[in-house]
Amino acid sequence: MDRLTAERKIEELRQQIERHNRLYHVEDRPEITDQEYDQLMRELRDLEDLYPDLVTSDSPTQRVGGEPLPHFEKVEHKVPMLSLGNAFDEADLRDFDRRVRQGVGEQPVRYVCELKIDGLAVSLRYENGLFVQGATRGDGQTGEDITQNLKTIRSIPLRLSKPVTIEVRGEAFMPKPAFEKLNQEREAKGEPLFANPRNSAAGSLRQLDPKIAASRSLDTFIYGIGELQGESVDFHSEGLELLQSLGFKVNPEWRVFDAIDELIAFIQSWAEKRPALPYEIDGMVIKVDSFAQRQELGFTAKSPRWAVAYKFPAEEAVTVLEGIEVSVGRTGAVTPTALLKPVSLAGTTVKRASLHNEEIIREKGLLLGDHVVVKKAGDIIPEIVAVLPERRTGEERPFQMPTHCPECGSDLVRFEDEVALRCINPDCPALIREGMIHFVSRLAMNIEGLGEKVVAQLYEQGLITSVADLYYLHERRDELLNMERMGEKSVDNLLEAIEASKQNSVERLIFGLGIRLVGAKAAKVLAEQFGHLDVLRQATREQLLEINEIGPKMADSILTYFSMPQVQELLDRLRAAGVNFSYKGVRVEAGNDTPLAGKTVVLTGTLNTLTRQEAEEKIALLGGKVTGSVSKKTDLVIAGDKAGSKLEKAEKLGIEVIDEAAFLKLLDQ
Ligand code: IVH
Repeated sequence: MDRLTAERKIEELRQQIERHNRLYHVEDRPEITDQEYDQLMRELRDLEDLYPDLVTSDSPTQRVGGEPLPHFEKVEHKVPMLSLGNAFDEADLRDFDRRVRQGVGEQPVRYVCELKIDGLAVSLRYENGLFVQGATRGDGQTGEDITQNLKTIRSIPLRLSKPVTIEVRGEAFMPKPAFEKLNQEREAKGEPLFANPRNSAAGSLRQLDPKIAASRSLDTFIYGIGELQGESVDFHSEGLELLQSLGFKVNPEWRVFDAIDELIAFIQSWAEKRPALPYEIDGMVIKVDSFAQRQELGFTAKSPRWAVAYKFPAEEAVTVLEGIEVSVGRTGAVTPTALLKPVSLAGTTVKRASLHNEEIIREKGLLLGDHVVVKKAGDIIPEIVAVLPERRTGEERPFQMPTHCPECGSDLVRFEDEVALRCINPDCPALIREGMIHFVSRLAMNIEGLGEKVVAQLYEQGLITSVADLYYLHERRDELLNMERMGEKSVDNLLEAIEASKQNSVERLIFGLGIRLVGAKAAKVLAEQFGHLDVLRQATREQLLEINEIGPKMADSILTYFSMPQVQELLDRLRAAGVNFSYKGVRVEAGNDTPLAGKTVVLTGTLNTLTRQEAEEKIALLGGKVTGSVSKKTDLVIAGDKAGSKLEKAEKLGIEVIDEAAFLKLLDQ
């Protein structure tokens, strides 16, 4: 391809990609599949490789580029980034309204009310429509240049729909599901958890290496204009519409109000709907719509008189840290729990709060007897978010993490790259008990009627000392009957449930064994790949590493586990008791040449020649994965008779659809 054609093609691809990017990340109505999008990106990348001098900073290929920075440069905000005064209740809102109406000489006033997104404020600068600089708010006058990190956020356009020079403001945040996923991953790796989505968004954008921000699923809502050249707007509502038409992601929930009563009702409705949002909001922002009126109202020393931030009542309370309890989990990790003076918080009485690890105690400088702020984050266990040192009396005492296991007394150790202290005595009663509780739990062997309390009781009575003993309990029926709260019926049910669990497909057993780093998902993958526990237990490091989902750390953990003589003995006893060691699902023999390898398939409508289950098995054999609903991620839809809304959606998204006959042909191949 000659240079001129390449240049034209590159431009065309960039426009297409930017458009699909906007449809997906800003407007949430994709028109093409991920594969098609990747294909466009690939074409662009190939052309840019051929003509490297045609690469420009606004090319979609440049979102995650760049080497880690040595430090962030300072950025002066031409228009200062202000913060807002707060309103905490209805009376504060009415006061605000009164002041505004007085300030504009009793003219009619219109307000725009928006959600107050709980992230961090950012400023984005565009010159002639191209994104040139992104910055944090800093102290309002000077922020830090975080352009590299902001570029990785897909909802931030690299190029606007018009070549305007504009500086906009908005909030960068981490959606709740991304936050939960990130913390789960961090927990599995033994890394310290983020306290809330705002901290994790801020932490991600403060990284000097843009690859970290790129991996963090951040998003933005843009809510204001700092500087605008060549165009003018007279109303904030008009500004929001302009922002949207330029390609920014604007939160759709804003409304215009003439009367404060209706505005207050709107705010109240959001106080209720707030938990259902997929991102965190900490209040609502009320802004005067007219820029002429804003001018008249002006500023106080700290903030504009034409806007106010209403803060939802905090799900926080102050109480006293009365003690710290230390417990040992199944992995030996020692976790401290705060014992609090009971306090009522968002409708429940809170007596305990998680402290995660010792580092947090030290970081926050917690002393026993301290007044602390506790907060409820979603439905999760409350946590201590702040210490109030100003309320100290001098009676407070430092807390010492134990150096010995509270259950077995052996020395606690800290592994090199971990924060948690661990008990590594395999005979520690806590490890054994918690390990057995894990073994019977829902995602593991799922033994009904065998809850934490019963397991602890059986263990204390000496009826079980390892999970293998569960499968020999039927020989000790009389002793079971002698236990407290155990009648004939419950003993029989329990023994029956234990017996039934022998038939579980082996991934449950693999997960239940509690091998370090092997979660339920990894257990499934291992079961699928190896098919049988005896094959897995002899697997080499190379064989384990061949599997995509298994990294070196997990591989080593698996090898260490199976090399222990007591593990071999345990497995032999389980087998002797008749516990199933093989995988009962459909095995995917790795192979990229099967017609559906790696594809996500949706079945809809009725098939005439196969049952649904048969069809699913065949798809799995061909390397495909069956999911229930059609989305951008779907690669193929198999539509039988009377296919309805799923088929419609697939057609709308441009996903490949085949009928039953074509599917059968595929199976023949
Ligand atoms: S307007 C002068 N609108 O809340 C007006 N702020 O103190 C400046 N925020 O630092 C802000 N959502 O980070 C505005 N819809 C919204 C907002 C919002 C979140 C943050 C912003 C600002 C703080 C207000």
